[in-house]
Amino acid sequence: MKIQLDLSGQVALVTGAGQGIGQAIAQRLADCGARVCVNDINPATAQATAAAINGVGGEAMAYPAAVEDRAAVEAMVQAVLARWGRLDILVNNAGVEPSASLLEMTEADWRHTLEVNLTAAFLCSQAAGRVMKQQGRGVVVNIASIAGHATPLPLRAAYAASKGGLVGFTKECAREFAEYGIRVNAVCPGVIITPMTEKLRHNPEMMAKWRADIPLHRLGWPEEVAELVLFLCSDSASYIVGQAIHVDGGKSMV
Ligand SMILES: NC(=O)c1ccc[n+]([C@@H]2O[C@H](COP(=O)([O-])OP(=O)(O)OC[C@H]3O[C@@H](n4cnc5c(N)ncnc54)[C@H](O)[C@@H]3O)[C@@H](O)[C@H]2O)c1
Repeated sequence: MKIQLDLSGQVALVTGAGQGIGQAIAQRLADCGARVCVNDINPATAQATAAAINGVGGEAMAYPAAVEDRAAVEAMVQAVLARWGRLDILVNNAGVEPSASLLEMTEADWRHTLEVNLTAAFLCSQAAGRVMKQQGRGVVVNIASIAGHATPLPLRAAYAASKGGLVGFTKECAREFAEYGIRVNAVCPGVIITPMTEKLRHNPEMMAKWRADIPLHRLGWPEEVAELVLFLCSDSASYIVGQAIHVDGGKSMV
């Protein structure tokens, strides 16, 4: 059963919401009455998510942009304000996960991963935070990972560095933004069934290992991550600040 929360009147911006976890988050926030700006670097998927929300009576706008581009991020926040006049919720979800051994990883891959997974959260939080400070309230949720601070994954040095950094950024941002009535938290998914994990899911050996290692013996669904994000975005989480909460079937505790 899903939790029932009321976000009517609120405006949310979800990055990387064309597919996977971001799409589930955008849809769930819209279900609960939020108007949602659906960002993705892929214009077709951003449009499709926004159309799906609008098609079931919600209200969404697509905004294709690369979140590591400061000018594009600032223009995106201005577009949200032009359309709806406010911004209450930011979900920094866009991410990339290149796989390479440390000795073979290119500097370009390393830098791109840090830019998209970490620098973009700074850029979006800064642009949205300025608006939320004026409003005297707001919520930011960063989608980190169990990688980087709880569970090292093979061949993921850049990814782990970016996600570990994102958890640190979350706490620093939470402390500073709390002064303005803005709550900041992170959600750390385990292995979730999305296009990002498609390769892994087609590898029977890897799947058997993950199933054995995860206490619930299954991967997670994007909707299971979205449910926690929704809760953190709502007033029901009004005293939760600066936390990094795992949604991982228990993986990070073993
Ligand atoms: N799937 C998992 O198992 C898992 C586990 C832990 C954390 N995460 C994190 O959750 C988030 C969502 O992951 P997912 O599994 O849905 O991945 P996904 O690859 O299915 O979706 C990511 C989305 O981000 C978009 N994107 C990529 N670069 C972008 C950019 N520069 N600007 C804007 N959009 C961009 C992509 O186009 C895509 O739509 C990521 O931050 C990921 O690191 C995923």
